[in-house]
Order: sequence, then structure tokens, then C-alpha cells
Amino acid sequence: MAKIVAGVCTSHVPAIGAALDLGKTEEPYWKRVFSGYERSKRWIEEVKPDVCIVVFNDHATAFSVDVVPTFALGCAEEFIPADEGWGPRPVPVVKGHPELAAHIAQSVILDEFDLTVVNKMDVDHGLTVPLSLMFGQPEEWPCKIIPLAVNVVLFPPPTGNRCFHLGEAIRKAVESFPEDLKVVVFGTGGMSHQISGPRAGLINSKFDKNFMDNFSDHPEKLTALRHVEYMREAGAEGIEMVMWLVARGALNKNVEEVYRFYTVPASNTAVGHLILENRPEKRAAKAKSAKAKSAKAKSAKTKSSARAKPAKASRTKKVLAVRGKAAPVKAKKAAKKAAKKAAKKARR
Ligand SMILES: [Fe+2]
Repeated sequence: MAKIVAGVCTSHVPAIGAALDLGKTEEPYWKRVFSGYERSKRWIEEVKPDVCIVVFNDHATAFSVDVVPTFALGCAEEFIPADEGWGPRPVPVVKGHPELAAHIAQSVILDEFDLTVVNKMDVDHGLTVPLSLMFGQPEEWPCKIIPLAVNVVLFPPPTGNRCFHLGEAIRKAVESFPEDLKVVVFGTGGMSHQISGPRAGLINSKFDKNFMDNFSDHPEKLTALRHVEYMREAGAEGIEMVMWLVARGALNKNVEEVYRFYTVPASNTAVGHLILENRPEKRAAKAKSAKAKSAKAKSAKTKSSARAKPAKASRTKKVLAVRGKAAPVKAKKAAKKAAKKAAKKARR
């Protein structure tokens, strides 16, 4: 069966892609950003996912304002890197996994999440920058990618709560796919930033760090955030952070944060990055620990009864030994008595 093993969350700042493509990774400004992903690249090389589901937003590249789907799942064989501000990035074509994508679409739609199925979609920096940060600059991407585009550009975007529950439905879908596949879910976008208006350039590190602090163990605090709170605290484009919650919902309740990185700024945006690995569910872990405790208690009882038996045996032995000692004493007395009798007889 397919299994989600981890989640990767990261900002998808377009300037990061341009810096990488233009060979600026060693410049001090950019080195600060790219050095934060060195460990992540090693991690994903070890994990070797078969498929990554990448939750991102289209920046008016594949979809114009004529049609803006709330959730659009890429079910195609491949997705072409889009021609955006700096031109199409020189990155490999993104290969999809149509079978798993179609299975997710069916499962999730029957679970009452109204996804748009997309069979043709160019993908912009929202998807390709996270791939570059995690996989570097390979000839071809080392795994299949299923893009999931979320509308965060045209009001009203979905709530963080809706995103979280969609993640849960995706997890259920993946876990019912019969092929053995190792799946990692990416949540991209954010962190705090605003690219236009009087507050352009806004970054709120306190909000970002608090978001990251709650992400693993208290996502319910984040799913309760309303649009206006993102807007006020994280800037107009900070709403992209709801896409992280799709990835969080797709993971177990019990996760371990295995890596965190945060730096300010990259271009005009705060860069945040988390890697979470699935751990056994708390309920399952609790049951497991109760079972282990009961087995331990049972084994202790068996041991103590095993110890008790020898003790009993030794008491018995002791009794026997006492009796054993007593028997010769009695025999001696009887022998003495018999000897006295014989002597008496002889005297007569
Ligand atoms: Fe974005």
C-alpha cells in the first residue's frame, strides 16, 4: 500500500529560483538561504520518495482570473515549467503519477471535497522552487510529482481548516492506493510577506515563528486562524501559509519535527522551512504501550511464579532434608534400643 512518510514545508520565493538558475548560490546574501537547505537535500536523498504531492499556488500562470479553481489536482503525465517573469526556469519537466492522482481525485471527491481535475497545467515557481531547494539541479527530478494547486490569489481562498481537512482526505486516499509507494507531501508558500500596497515589504518573524512552533503539535491553533488574521499579521500574501496545513493534515497526529530553518529576508519574503516525519499515531502508540505493559506484567508474574516454585521446592527439600536427618536419628535410636535388648538377653 502507498504510505505518506513525511511532510516538507517551505517558502517558494521566485527570486530563490532565479538566484539558483543564475549561479548566485555562493553570493553571501543567497548562501544564507541555500545553506539552510543542505541538510534537507541529504534527508530527501535518504528518504527517496517515489512520489511527492506538492501543494502550491499558481501565480496567474496556468490559470488567469477567468477561471480560478479552489483546489486543482494535476492528473497529467507531465507538467511543463511555466514561462514567468524571468522566463521558464531551466528545470526538468515535471513527471506526474496519473494513476495515483486519479485515485486521489476519486477518493477525495467521494469524500465531498470538490477538487478540480486538471489534465493540462504548466507549473510555475510555486512548484519548481521547492523542488530545486530539495533536489538541487538534477537532469531529471528523482521522483514523480502530483501538483495540487490551491487558490490563494483571489478572494475568497479556502480556510486553513478546510486545507487541513483536505490533507486528511488525501492521506486516506493515498493509504488506500494498492501499490507500494513512499509518498512525501510538500506544503509550500509563505511565510509572512506583502508585495504591494502601503505595507509592501512587511515581514512578521514573531508570527512566522509562532506558526512554526505550533505546526507539529498544535495545528488546531493554526486551523482556527481567520483570513483577516493572516492579512493583518502576515501581510496580504501571508495567506499562502494555509497550504502548509494541507501537508500537516496529510500527516499523522503524532509527528516529529526533524528539521527547521528560518531566515529573513529572501527578496521581500521571510523564508521558513520545516521537515516533519510521521510517527505512530498516539492512540496506536498508547495501545502499543498498554500491550507492552501488560506483556511485561505477565512476564514478571511468570518469572515470579517460576521463582516461587523453586522456593517451594526448596522448602519441600528442606522439609525432606529435615525428615531425612530425622530418619537416621530414629534408626540410630531403634538400633541402640535393639542392641540394649540383645545385651540384656545375653546377660540373662
Ligand atoms: Fe507564492
